[in-house]
Amino acid sequence: MPESIIAGISSCSQPEKGTLVILTDASGQIAASAVETAGKDLIERLVTAGAFKGEQFRHIETYTVGNESFDRLVLLGTGDHENFGHDDWIKLGGACRGAIAHAAHATVIMSMEGRDLSENDMADFICGLELRHYRFDKYMKGKNCQEKHDLKIVLQAENVSEAQKAFERAQKLAGAVNWTRDLVNEPANILGTEEFTARIETLTAFGIKVDILDEKELEKSGLAALLGVARGSRRPARLAIMHWNGGEAEDRPLAFIGKGVVFDAGGISLKPAASMEEMKGDMGGAAAVAGAMRALAARKARANVIGVVGLVENMPDGNAMRPGDIITSMSGQSIEVVNTDAEGRLVLADALWFTREKFKPQLMIDLATLTGAIMVALGQQYAGLFSNDDTLADNLCTVGIHSGERLWRMPLDKEYDRIVDSRVADMRNSTGRHAGSVMAAQFLQRFVGDTPWAHLDIAGTAMGAPKNEYNESWASGFGVRLLDRLVADCYEG
Ligand code: BES
Ligand code: MN
Ligand code: ZN
Repeated sequence: MPESIIAGISSCSQPEKGTLVILTDASGQIAASAVETAGKDLIERLVTAGAFKGEQFRHIETYTVGNESFDRLVLLGTGDHENFGHDDWIKLGGACRGAIAHAAHATVIMSMEGRDLSENDMADFICGLELRHYRFDKYMKGKNCQEKHDLKIVLQAENVSEAQKAFERAQKLAGAVNWTRDLVNEPANILGTEEFTARIETLTAFGIKVDILDEKELEKSGLAALLGVARGSRRPARLAIMHWNGGEAEDRPLAFIGKGVVFDAGGISLKPAASMEEMKGDMGGAAAVAGAMRALAARKARANVIGVVGLVENMPDGNAMRPGDIITSMSGQSIEVVNTDAEGRLVLADALWFTREKFKPQLMIDLATLTGAIMVALGQQYAGLFSNDDTLADNLCTVGIHSGERLWRMPLDKEYDRIVDSRVADMRNSTGRHAGSVMAAQFLQRFVGDTPWAHLDIAGTAMGAPKNEYNESWASGFGVRLLDRLVADCYEG
């Protein structure tokens, strides 16, 4: 776990040295405690000089003249915070970390004029600090390595015990998101299927029970679609199952299912070279599921949750699946493999069916970097949501807005379904140019039966997504906060 940047939490200790950060709203209001600590003159000078209006997530800074106990003052704008949601607090925390980019010591006063910061607000703010702090630079050894300075932040709050609780909560959530980012950022030479299961096994430290199924066991259970994808790789297929039992014994579990293609070369339907390196992130769904399990277990969520991830590598080889091959999935339905690059739906078909048969979950949500077409439809700001259940879809959209991991519902319709039919098997894994993301979802629906189910196509949001206040990493960790919030808001208590 990356070490926290928070060195401590205090009530009103004077900052000793380094940078002092205080918050300013759109009307220039600053909490009295902050004015006292920073000094009225200095603040006034800064505001007048910079014509700063507390614009949202912007900041202005000055060096002090030497009379003060700190070296630098930063005013961070909250803008109009009346309707601040979770995501805004996270952004504010991220912007705060950005504002002290070069500092070694900082004191941040978590106070706002006319507003009591709740434990929730502070937890989100601190989460934003930790998420923005994340960097994947472990392989940078040479001159390109930005010097990694040890930033230490002291947080000041009116209610220290609430701030302490907020800090502990934020640590757990941000720790899980950053852990997921690490998995997705890791290159495929380092993170194969077995290395992935080894990382998942570390989750036992959080009280998660882990089962790993090897190829022999998968064969016995008939997961031929999943196994078919792995045939072209030296790396063996695995199915990892994570159990968190925080609910009542009789509660049927929630199930999260992830696509874990550790590298997607396309198989015999080989991908073009341009951007193929990004396919190291084709396990973003599996990483999000594992990270969500960690987040839930770390905060001891009062729910029974199962995470199932299908881990394979999609490579071309003499033993690989061919276009035209027909395979029989665990469900008994046959699939014509028209394009070996449409491998994610093969993995998920068996993972979904397996989960449904084995655990009889009350609902299933799968996350997958499934189609390039979802980026054509939605860009990288929204993930695609497909569901056979309106309540589940509505719940997901709502927590999507709150968490900032936004979802847009896309259609499922039996009119599309005919296109998925094959002339030689029950279905084909690739269709024409139209509605590629819908076709993939329509394919998956054939493996969920009547279980309430949602499919999140995160190909655009899990990796290479635009940077924002709290994410500067290629891998965003998309899905972890969303699933954690879904469980908290809709399925606990
Ligand atoms: N992993 C890819 C989808 C993808 C593309 C994720 C770009 C992230 C960025 C998936 O396995 C794939 O290759 N999908 C094909 C499906 C097609 C062959 C029906 C695609 O999107 O082109
Ligand atoms: Mn593919
Ligand atoms: Zn893929």
